[in-house]
Formats: sequence, C-alpha cells, structure tokens
Amino acid sequence: MYVNPRRVRKCQFVQLFATCFVLCFMIFWGPLDNSIVSHMKSYSYRYLINSYSFVNESLSISKDNLDKVANCQYLINHRKKCLRQDVLLLLFVKSSPENRYRRDTIRKTWGNEKYVRYYLKGNIKTLFVLGKPSNSTQRDEIQKKLEMEDELYQDLIQQDFLDTFHNLTHKLLLQFSWVNKFCPHAKFVMSADDDIFIHMPNLVTYLQHLAQIRAQNLWIGRVHRGSPPVRDKKSKYYVPYEMYPWPAYPDYTAGAAYVISGDVAAKIYTASQTLNSSLYIDDVFMGLCANKVGIIPQHHLFFSGEGKAPYHPCIYNKMMTSHGHVEDLHYLWKQAIDRKVKNISAGFWGGLYCRLVNIMLLCRLSYKDTYPCIAAFS
Ligand SMILES: *[C@@H]1O[C@H](CO)[C@@H](O)[C@H](O)[C@H]1NC(C)=O
Ligand SMILES: *[C@@H]1O[C@H](CO)[C@@H](O)[C@H](O)[C@H]1NC(C)=O
Ligand SMILES: *[C@@H]1O[C@H](CO)[C@@H](O)[C@H](O)[C@H]1NC(C)=O
Ligand SMILES: *[C@@H]1O[C@H](CO)[C@@H](O)[C@H](O)[C@H]1NC(C)=O
Ligand SMILES: *[C@@H]1O[C@H](CO)[C@@H](O)[C@H](O)[C@H]1NC(C)=O
Repeated sequence: MYVNPRRVRKCQFVQLFATCFVLCFMIFWGPLDNSIVSHMKSYSYRYLINSYSFVNESLSISKDNLDKVANCQYLINHRKKCLRQDVLLLLFVKSSPENRYRRDTIRKTWGNEKYVRYYLKGNIKTLFVLGKPSNSTQRDEIQKKLEMEDELYQDLIQQDFLDTFHNLTHKLLLQFSWVNKFCPHAKFVMSADDDIFIHMPNLVTYLQHLAQIRAQNLWIGRVHRGSPPVRDKKSKYYVPYEMYPWPAYPDYTAGAAYVISGDVAAKIYTASQTLNSSLYIDDVFMGLCANKVGIIPQHHLFFSGEGKAPYHPCIYNKMMTSHGHVEDLHYLWKQAIDRKVKNISAGFWGGLYCRLVNIMLLCRLSYKDTYPCIAAFS
C-alpha cells in the first residue's frame, strides 16, 4: 500500500503536539483538583490521544492470580433457563434483595417473558441478579423471603457476595460468567437497573432487525466519552489515584441499560478474566474490558442515562429506555402496548405533529438530560 510520506509526517506532528499539550495541562494543572480542570484534562486526553494501552499493562493480573478471580458460589441459580431454545435477548435486571416491589412490577410489565413471546414474537429470558442481603440483622429473614419468591417465579440468580454499591463489579462478573456458562447462544444480552423502563415493543423490533442482518460487535447504550475519574472523596463514584491514576476512562455506556451482541459478551467475559476487577464502578470496568478487546460502544439516541424521558406519546414511539421509574411503570407499560398510542405518529400529519412535539420537548434549554435534541430530528 502506498502511503504519502508527507501525510505521515503531518500526522506524527499532530500527535506530538497533542501529547505536549496534554502533558502541559497535567504539569500545570495537576495539583488543582476541580471538576472543570479534570474535565478539560480528560477531554483533551480522550480527543487528542485516546490511547488506553496502559490498561493492558497496568491492570492485567498475572497468571498466578488468575485462580483467585472471583469464583463466587451460586446461592440461587437456574442453569436450564436457556437450554435448547433460541434466545433473542437475555435480560439481566440488577436488583437488590429488598426490592421485591420493583421486581414484581417488572414481572408484570416490561420483563414479562410470556407477553413478549405471544404478542411480540420474541423469546426473551429475564433474570434478576442479586448478591446477599447487606443488612446483617435481617439477612436470614430476607434470604428466606428471596427463596420463596424464587420458588414462585424461578427467575433469580444470586451469588455469595454482599449486595452493595461497591460490589457492583462482582455483579457484572456474575452476569458475564452466567452468559458464558449457561446461555452462550443468546443473540443479545442486556443489563438493566431495576428502576428503569424499557419499551420492550420498540426494543424487540429493533433487535429482531439486528438479528436478521446478523449484526455483531455491538455495544449499544448511552455512551460516556472521556469521563474523568471522580476525585472528590465525598462522592459515591470516588476513585483513588492508586486504583486508577489516568485522567480519563475509556468510553463506556451508562450502566442503567445497555445491549450487547452475543459475540461481545464472550469477548468481554474473556477480558474480564484477565483484568484486575478492584475498580468498583461496574460500567467503567466494562469499558476497560471492552477496550482491551477492541469493542467500541455505540450511542443510541433513545437510551437514557441518568434522566427520565418526558411523558408524551410521541416520545414513546421511539423510546428504548428511560431511567428513574418505579411507581409509574404500569402507566408507561400501558402506553407502550397500546396501539392507539403507536398510531399517533402514523401518516404525514402524524409524523409532522410528532416531530414538532419532540422538538419542543427535547430542545428546550431548561430540559433535563435524557434524549438529546437531535433525537427529535431522527
Ligand atoms: C437493618 O435492619 C434493621 C431492622 O429493620 C434497621 O433498624 C437497620 O437500620 C438496618 N441497617 C441498615 C444498615 O440498613
Ligand atoms: C463485597 O462482598 C464481599 C463478599 O461478601 C464482602 O466481603 C465485601 O465486604 C463486600 N464489599 C463491599 C464494599 O461491600
Ligand atoms: C488490583 O489492584 C489493587 C489496587 O487497586 C491492588 O491492591 C490489588 O493487589 C490488585 N490485585 C491483583 C490481583 O493484582
Ligand atoms: C494485551 O496483552 C496481551 C498479552 O499480555 C496481548 O496478547 C494483547 O494483544 C494485548 N492487547 C492489546 C489491545 O494491546
Ligand atoms: C391505526 O391506524 C390505522 C391506519 O393508519 C387504522 O387502520 C387503525 O384502525 C388504527 N388503529 C387504532 C387502534 O386506532
């Protein structure tokens, strides 16, 4: 292949310049620890250098340590959940032992396998992923209730670690090792929080299309680009320098809800076995694993990160996920499966009406971050 030498020199120059630029940033602003500076550092790192090869060198664990990697015992499991059937979507819902109400609501709404099979013609498998109850005084009681719940619904998987925020990476590893062992043939895998709404009709249609074209290498969600590690000790997301000394995380999708294709699940699983999993922010850890195997997350306009989508039929028409819903899941689900709601955007005038409504809803300045303004034009 012929490569223009002048172009190569120009590239190298740009890279050198970028490196100097970022180094200057770090030297002069290193001691300052405020969020504007850390964002400038992380964005310049992300957009000018964007190399995370250090992950491979610094965070890999040596072979002798491999055996020690979280080999947690299952307390509750369903090994045969996926056996001998085509699975379009394996849906993991990250729940906590105490959140029975949320699980029951999800079972009746977007997590309902039977509804999806009969009315949407898609085979999904819903599993709630749990650790041990964290409250030591009530542990046995809650555990007993969990086992009764599981007898009824047969949809919990639980491993022997405390179910706490700082153990979320354990939960991530649990999901990936479960896919790898018990459901490696799932076409897609999704991980979701138990306080989100998933518009299952839209999602299943989308995934059926992707399955038809045999899409691979997919990791879809709301992408965080160039996020800096939080160094404020009071924050829930605080990460000490010793754990992650670099200015930016590799790109990753918000842990609230993302979808990956089956081949990606296998690759991430392999990578997760070779990386130090002490970094307790699960979605960032997933980003590190993905980076190691060269998987790049893709942004979907209708996956929300932290925010709640506006309530409107024109929004429901395209919605995939929305965050922060517990009490209103039944309402949203009714809207999602109502054909009349779907019809609102039908035809030329319907389409025009919905476009205008969505622009008004998503492009306001005071609008809280869920779907971006450009989503109104998609
Ligand atoms: C554990 O449960 C007990 C009894 O309900 C409650 O008083 C206590 O505050 C709980 N502890 C924690 C850490 O939540
Ligand atoms: C995570 O779970 C392990 C195993 O149960 C426990 O020893 C550890 O304290 C937990 N970590 C946190 C931060 O809760
Ligand atoms: C993983 O990293 C932590 C520091 O963040 C370190 O204390 C621990 O020893 C490392 N574990 C392995 C197995 O390398
Ligand atoms: C990471 O290191 C392993 C060997 O330690 C190597 O096989 C692999 O290609 C490296 N990956 C990247 C992305 O550099
Ligand atoms: C939806 O629209 C189609 C034509 O656009 C119409 O035939 C159908 O009856 C409508 N369905 C409902 C439930 O309104």
